[in-house]
Formats: sequence, structure tokens, C-alpha cells
Amino acid sequence: MYPFLQFHDRLRPCAIIFSVIRGLAMEVLLPKLPSFKFPSPTHCCSITSRSSADIRFVGVRRIASLSVSASSVNEAVAEAAVGSPSLGHSTRPHFPILHQEVNGSKLIYLDSAATSQKPTTVLKALQNYYEGYNSNVHRGIHFLSAKATDEYESARRKVASFINASDSREIVFTKNASEAINLVAYSWGLSNLKPEDEIILTVAEHHSAIVPWQLVAQKVGAVLKFVDLNQDEMPDIEKLKERLSRKTKIVVVHHVSNVLASVLPIRDIAQWAHDVGAKVLVDACQSVPHMIVDVQRLNADFLVASSHKMCGPTGIGFLYGKIDLLSTMPPFLGGGEMISDVYLDHSTYAEPPSRFEAGTPAIGEAIGLGAAIDYLSGIGMQTIHDYEVDLGRYLYERLLSVPNIRIYGPPPSEEVQRAALCSFNVENLHPTDLATFLDQQHGVAIRSGHHCAQPLHRYLGVNSSARASLYFYNTKEDVDNFIHALNDTVSFFNSFK
Ligand SMILES: Cc1ncc(COP(=O)(O)O)c(C=O)c1O
Repeated sequence: MYPFLQFHDRLRPCAIIFSVIRGLAMEVLLPKLPSFKFPSPTHCCSITSRSSADIRFVGVRRIASLSVSASSVNEAVAEAAVGSPSLGHSTRPHFPILHQEVNGSKLIYLDSAATSQKPTTVLKALQNYYEGYNSNVHRGIHFLSAKATDEYESARRKVASFINASDSREIVFTKNASEAINLVAYSWGLSNLKPEDEIILTVAEHHSAIVPWQLVAQKVGAVLKFVDLNQDEMPDIEKLKERLSRKTKIVVVHHVSNVLASVLPIRDIAQWAHDVGAKVLVDACQSVPHMIVDVQRLNADFLVASSHKMCGPTGIGFLYGKIDLLSTMPPFLGGGEMISDVYLDHSTYAEPPSRFEAGTPAIGEAIGLGAAIDYLSGIGMQTIHDYEVDLGRYLYERLLSVPNIRIYGPPPSEEVQRAALCSFNVENLHPTDLATFLDQQHGVAIRSGHHCAQPLHRYLGVNSSARASLYFYNTKEDVDNFIHALNDTVSFFNSFK
């Protein structure tokens, strides 16, 4: 068995040396290598996280390290927006980071499901805040504090309007979506769940939506019930419907799967849940950045998303909660800002959303999120969605041409609209080797691993997968270049067989 694909770091040097020798001697100095049997992704060792310093992959076409080479951001190489044929072409110039070379190749960023890139307007909003009016919010009466408070609260109103919440008090700023889910689990869950109550989820949930509920369920004796996939490889909502009963207290579901690319009918699910008296928490991390999300139409009780996936900064996310629910919920974290009065033996608490925002919030980041929402709204979420549906379908179809590929999730059809991402495996090729080669040899950034969805990968019979995920700033050329690079990668590894 060829060690190159085993992916133990200690074997990496062998692989590197081997790769160099092979490159130099390619077909000339060395006899044809013996045929190697590559382990299937199912049997590959699980992926360990490695710092970039750990990885050095010396290729035959160029010597490269993982440190970004020749990568100074160069606006001059940004494609011109004028006369652009697509949304991707017209918006790319707004994203300075996209215009650089990585490992000697033009960067092709296909990892937006992990985090999106940020347009100049967002970067400027952060800079303006820190340069012009950096100050704490809600507590100062001086000019800078008043300005920071106005901008921070304006960002909250922007989020509310973006998802059509009826009241900006329904928006709680959190560190990210994970914290927002923890907030609901600990605040609402601990005070509303009792032994034998059921929490319904799907096997395709992100760890952020599973683990907080496991922690809370263990405390109160509630039970997590999981719905698996149907024959189209998307969560079986008919089974979900059957699982609902008076024991169900909350349904926790994603809107768009970060692995399967499937989209769930949240409005129906909310209706069924409400029919049995249950609440619904929607993990909208992969939908809010890509489509119109209207919380009133969906009738979700809670909905969470992260700024960094929607062109905003890291360190900020939000919880939407119906105001009647938030008003009855106890605090999650204690500290300054979330109180009404503090005595030595007890405290009273502020109304939502302040009740759930203990301490100094991520002020600049919230303002940056507001700028991201302005930017996205300027393009129009329907425009973004339509463009991505087309681009996503193109990605799916082009990937199908790669030999021995297995793409997870439902095939696109008239009825099934996939999100613009594909998780896949190529037979006998470890996804992390594939992602490493794509990065090192072609400057293509994709994700490999379990994408924080281990139960789903287990259900699919694999440990990990590769994932290419698009955003509106990607183009069909990005997809073509990726497919070309992927074919090259597959040929490279197959040449050892
Ligand atoms: C579907 C889904 N849910 C939740 C999360 C967690 O988001 P965050 O890490 O920003 O809290 C992610 C991020 O990858 C996601 O894709």
C-alpha cells in the first residue's frame, strides 16, 4: 500500500521525497512504479488537523510550500467589471483577496461554505469604525459612544430587515451561529425540556446543531431522535413528519445542508412542528448568505446564521427569536449590559435582546455585518440565488465528468434545487490528498474532511469527503479550472497504480 495516501504526517516526508524523485525521473530515469492499491475513503484514517507549517509538498512543476507565495494583493490584476458577462465577473473586483497567486497559480477560492470572502466595503466599514469612532456601546454619552451605539443598533435593524423579522428586538448578536444555538439550548432548553421530551434532528445536521442539544438533553433527561436520508440522499422529511408527537418539544434542522446541498421545506416543517406544540430552530448558516430568507414566511421560532459566511467579519453571528419566546427566556450568560438591576444577592434582567448580550459586544464586527448586508442587498438576494443555482448546476454537471467520482446529495432536477456546493469522493483517493494537491499544484482552495458532519459521513459510509463550494463571486471559468485541476490530480495519483 502506497504510503502517500495514508496521510500520517510522519509519512509525509517520504511522500515528498518520493514525489520529487518521481517528478524528476518521470518515466525516464525510473522504471514504471509498481501498481499501488489506494485505500478507499471509507477506510482512510480520519483527518487530523495540520498547521500550514506541517505541510510541505514539493511538486514536479514547481517547488512550492503552503505559505502563500507571490501573494500580495494586487488590485491591478483584478478583472474589469465593465462589460462583464456574469455576476461573478462583475463582483470579483470587489474582493481584493481573490486577486492573488497561491503557490504560483492564480487563486481559485472554492471554500465559501466554510467562510466567504469580504468585499472592500466591509473592510472599509471595519476600518472606519476603528479609525473614526471606536468606542463602547450603550454606556457612554460622548460623541464617539453615541455614534458607535447608533451604528451597532443600525446593524441590528439591517439584520432584522434582511430576514424580515417583525421587530429588531428579535435579533440577538452572538459570536457565531454555534453560540446562537447554544444560547437557545441552554436558555430555552434548560427551562422547557423535561425527562423523555424529544428533540428531533436529522443525521445531516452540523455538529453545532447537535452537540449543544446533546449537552442539554443529558442534563434534563430529554432524548435526541434523528431522521435519516431518503433514496434521493436528502433528509427524509416524511419520516420527520411521522416522528413528530406530543413528546416533541423542538425540531432542530438546517435550511440548506453544508454537505448534501439539499434544501429543506422549512415552512412545512414548522407547520407540522407547531401542530404538535413543538418549536422549530432553523440552522440557516448556508441559506441566509445565498437566498431570500423570510422568517415570518417560514414561521421559524428560532433561526441562526453567521456573519462570516455572508461577506461579513468573523466573530459575529445572530439569533433570531420570536419576541414572545425571547421575552420568556432566562439569560444565557451573565455580565454587564444584560441586567436591569444588580443587588448583592440577586439581579434582574434587561429585556431582549440586551438580556442575551452580556459584556462588550463585537461592535466593529456587527457594523461590518451591517455593511455586508448593505452590499448583498445592493446586488439583490434573488439575483445572487438565481446566479448560484445556475453555477451550482454547472459545477455538478462538470464534476460528473470526472472518472470514478461520487457526489453526495440529491441530483439537481426540476423539483430539486441544490445549493452551489458539491461534496464528493473520487474512488481510492483520499480527499485530503486531493485537496492538498489541488492547493499546492493548482492554487485551488477546496475543503476536505467531515465538514463538521461526522454522523452524516458515517451514514454515507465514509470518514470524509472533498467539498467545493461556490459563492456569487465565482465564475464558470473557476469551475472549469477546478475541473481541469481535479482531472490532473486524479491522473497524477492514478499513475502510481
Ligand atoms: C450548516 C452549518 N451550521 C452551523 C455552522 C457553524 O457556524 P459557525 O462555525 O460560524 O458557528 C456551519 C459552519 O460551517 C454550517 O455550515
